[in-house]
Amino acid sequence: MNKQTDAFIHHAADRAESETASIGTSLPHESAALHVSGEATYTDDIPELQGTLHAALGLSRHAHARIASLDLSAVRSAPGVIAVLSATDIPGENNCGPVLHDDPILADDEVLYLGQPVFAVIAESHELARRAAALAKSDDVVRYDPLDVVLTPAEAKAKKQFVLPPLHLTRGEPAAKIAAAPHQIQGSFDVGGQEQFYLEGQVAYAVPKEMDSMLVYSSTQHPSEMQQVVAHMLDWPAHSVVCECRRMGGGFGGKESQSALFACVAALAAKLLQRPVKLRADRDDDFMITGKRHDAVYEYEAGFDDTGRILGARVEIALRAGYSADLSGAVATRAVCHFDNAYYLSDVDIVALCCKTNTQSNTAFRGFGGPQGALVMEVMLDSIARQLKLDPLDVRLANYYGVGERDVTPYGQRVEDNVIAPLTDELLASSDYRARRAALAVYNATSPVLKRGIAFSPVKFGISFNVPFLNQAGALVHVYKDGSILVNHGGTEMGQGLNTKVAQVVANELGVPLSRVRATATDTSKVANTSATAASTGSDLNGKAAEAAARTIRERLAALAARELGGEPDAVQFKDSMVHANGVTMPFPQLVNMAYLARVQLWSDGFYATPKVHWDAKTLTGHPFYYFAYGAAVSEVVVDTLTGEWKLVRADVLHDAGQSINPAIDIGQVEGGFIQGMGWLTTEELWWNRDGRLMTHAPSTYKIPAVSDTPAAFHVQLYRNENAEPTVFRSKAVGEPPLLLPFSVFLAIRDAIAATAPQANHAPPLRAPATPEAILDALEAMQQAASVVSMPAAGSSDPKEPETAATSVGNTTAGAAPKTPASVDTAT
Ligand code: MTE
Ligand code: HPA
Ligand code: MOS
Repeated sequence: MNKQTDAFIHHAADRAESETASIGTSLPHESAALHVSGEATYTDDIPELQGTLHAALGLSRHAHARIASLDLSAVRSAPGVIAVLSATDIPGENNCGPVLHDDPILADDEVLYLGQPVFAVIAESHELARRAAALAKSDDVVRYDPLDVVLTPAEAKAKKQFVLPPLHLTRGEPAAKIAAAPHQIQGSFDVGGQEQFYLEGQVAYAVPKEMDSMLVYSSTQHPSEMQQVVAHMLDWPAHSVVCECRRMGGGFGGKESQSALFACVAALAAKLLQRPVKLRADRDDDFMITGKRHDAVYEYEAGFDDTGRILGARVEIALRAGYSADLSGAVATRAVCHFDNAYYLSDVDIVALCCKTNTQSNTAFRGFGGPQGALVMEVMLDSIARQLKLDPLDVRLANYYGVGERDVTPYGQRVEDNVIAPLTDELLASSDYRARRAALAVYNATSPVLKRGIAFSPVKFGISFNVPFLNQAGALVHVYKDGSILVNHGGTEMGQGLNTKVAQVVANELGVPLSRVRATATDTSKVANTSATAASTGSDLNGKAAEAAARTIRERLAALAARELGGEPDAVQFKDSMVHANGVTMPFPQLVNMAYLARVQLWSDGFYATPKVHWDAKTLTGHPFYYFAYGAAVSEVVVDTLTGEWKLVRADVLHDAGQSINPAIDIGQVEGGFIQGMGWLTTEELWWNRDGRLMTHAPSTYKIPAVSDTPAAFHVQLYRNENAEPTVFRSKAVGEPPLLLPFSVFLAIRDAIAATAPQANHAPPLRAPATPEAILDALEAMQQAASVVSMPAAGSSDPKEPETAATSVGNTTAGAAPKTPASVDTAT
């Protein structure tokens, strides 16, 4: 996704001169050449050791059932099979869950979703392992007694079936404020889940080592946790397991916890057979086994004034957690803390439910619940604007957080670094939003089939793990006698450019060009007890830790230089591969060699813990985020109202990455996040049959965006800003926030649909993802409503009016609980 941009090309040209001062420079990704030439080593590319065996998983055929009998003899006698393993073969704990211990590695006596691994085949080749594992389809191998199946959040909610207790945050008097407001709105809304669709699927390669120890190569965002779950499974101490990851071909949250099952099965087989074992999931199996972004069903209600300013709001967010807890508690917490998005809510009530269903266990996905929290707010504001017949932009502006007033979030954190208003002004000017909105109205008036829509949406995203203790990192920097430098840190590289940024930080600290610094594979034997590379904090945390390590070495070198050459250590300068001390200049490697001979330690560790963050999980209040990242987008679409097809014709994005360490990489993150979020809200649809079988489990049925979906006009810029907090070079995390920018695409589609019934004062009931089918449904509903409105005899209680209709002043339904959600946004 690190697409070359104008900025990239421009900066690459003067790379030679600026390499030393590498901070703020658009240097190419450390592995860019390897990525495009195919030389980059992913886990499956590691040369296989002699004797390597291959594993495949036998999956459950039922969404919920008791295993009546398991007879693996036919599988054992299949060609090439060396061993078949089930839960009883696990010497330690049969769990790979990250928080609660409710995630069996292999099913015990009950299966909880269709696709759950029941047994593992170990065979001579990948192909033979897969063929044997497919025997899981046979009744002779596994017999099931089916149990009741709960699939949707709505069903789970009705049964009060949750993986964790509901989260509830309330401030002020929302019910009273809603009831007393001049206008009210109530509605429900649905958003689908999303498969991470990392290009490199889940894979692990386990190599048994001497004296009961193991090296596990894992494609994971969280090597330390892979080490820990493998050790627990084998009943070994953690020091017996090393986990290594050079790079992933994408993780997107899907390898934060759910790489564990694959690491565990490979390690279990390697331990029992004393041979290297690789487990690489086929794409379809990966879809069937692993969790995705949580889909959600919302009910919301708000009271507002004539300008659309919200006076009171409430929302219930029912997330589909799947069969186990996984990270759902933290995801739901982030959803609660992002309902506000960029808006001040004086009186508010937020409930989040983690619904337990017989489906894959949903997990982290870029944004981690933040997108699910903020989307419903944006939909609600859009509906409010349509009810008031105002430009949705103006309703948004009326609700923005203030500066020095109206600036405390529902969870009690003051927003101290708010730049959303100036950022918005800049984007509205550069995108020419107002003039284009006017031009669109003219176009739509004379275009009966093609309708255009435009929308603006802002983002405010909290940066830090919302579990405070996770906000720590370590690094190790080695300076070798020749002056070359190796940096190792706890973060993982998944394409986002973390290693490039960390190497830039180290190069800058020691005053050498980037080519002198090499970042190595993440390795639990180098830095211990690391957190997942997640919550967008990779460069904030590991950059600071690496900077601290490099600084320690620089200070030792400076002290030596001052001792040998005179002058103050503080006055010694490291620049352009040269060291300047007391009027003497010498090459960096020369000082390094002097230091070695003088027995000065040339390597150091570094550690960083984010200041200020704290969180009270009982009251859902505190200071969960070190700072906020901001952004905004204007998107314009054209919709074919006969087919439901649409195209994004132009997108303008202004995003706040603070003082960027590497603008090319950051712009790549913004572009990638934007297109990925657009896929979530438009083409990517997960579909389960009533028996709980995921039917969209391959690219043939699950459509991620293609390069042709990139708008012809895609204007992505970084907002000139610096972090108010002293992060690495005052940069800001950029990995996840841009995923929320394409809310504007979804809202632009709504806007185009609304243009088919310009007299209506309610929003199109468009669900997400806005597939052509969903768009046609919404168009039809608009037409029906319009024909009702234009019928002279239409009475106030017309049955065709959406159920949750709320009108203006004196609305008697205000404050009452909304009705059961329909499958679409029924706000009026
Ligand atoms: N970019 C690429 N190319 N591949 C990825 O897997 N993951 C995203 C984001 N950008 C991802 C990516 C997610 S979910 C997160 S949390 C961050 O990168 C993690 O990396 P960072 O903290 O170093 O930004
Ligand atoms: N993001 C990603 N992973 C996490 C978080 C978060 O905010 N909190 C706990 N694990
Ligand atoms: Mo990102 S969802 O925090 O891995």
